[in-house]
Amino acid sequence: MIKKKMQQALDKQLNAELYSSYLYLSMSAYFNSINLKGFANWMKVQAQEELSHAMKFYNFILERGGKVILSEIDPPQSEWNSPLAAFEHVYRHEQKVTSLINSLVDLSISEGDHATNNFLQWFVTEQVEEEASADEVVQKLKLAGKSAGGLFMIDRELAQRVFAPPTVPEASGG
Ligand code: FEO
Repeated sequence: MIKKKMQQALDKQLNAELYSSYLYLSMSAYFNSINLKGFANWMKVQAQEELSHAMKFYNFILERGGKVILSEIDPPQSEWNSPLAAFEHVYRHEQKVTSLINSLVDLSISEGDHATNNFLQWFVTEQVEEEASADEVVQKLKLAGKSAGGLFMIDRELAQRVFAPPTVPEASGG
């Protein structure tokens, strides 16, 4: 059975993952509003991915005999000055999420909770990818600069992204 302190910290992270999903869905709406459908698609897929992260925490808490307590989700920003500003926000946000995951790992170690520590390792790896994929788009947007052609090329590329549910088995074994 999971200890109270650890469970509360995991509940908090579940909320943070839902907030991430909300933030990226808001960015998707922003990109739709400026007719960049490929960017909007990338963000929608990202929002789906964050929801799947939240569900991993949900399933894990249940499996460890805890009770999930859902709390209010903060409203996300809804406007950005440019596609670059939005993607720089993604990058900064993912760096913040990485530090949240690292703090959870620290807590699992100080609490001697090996199962939670093991569960969190998936997220440690995932965050490397999350930061890298956001930074990749930031760098492309910087290269494109003010070129409309460059922006539309990136838009076409981001339109290709499809949601792939995480391949690592869920904590619930399903
Ligand atoms: Fe759930 Fe983008 O980290």
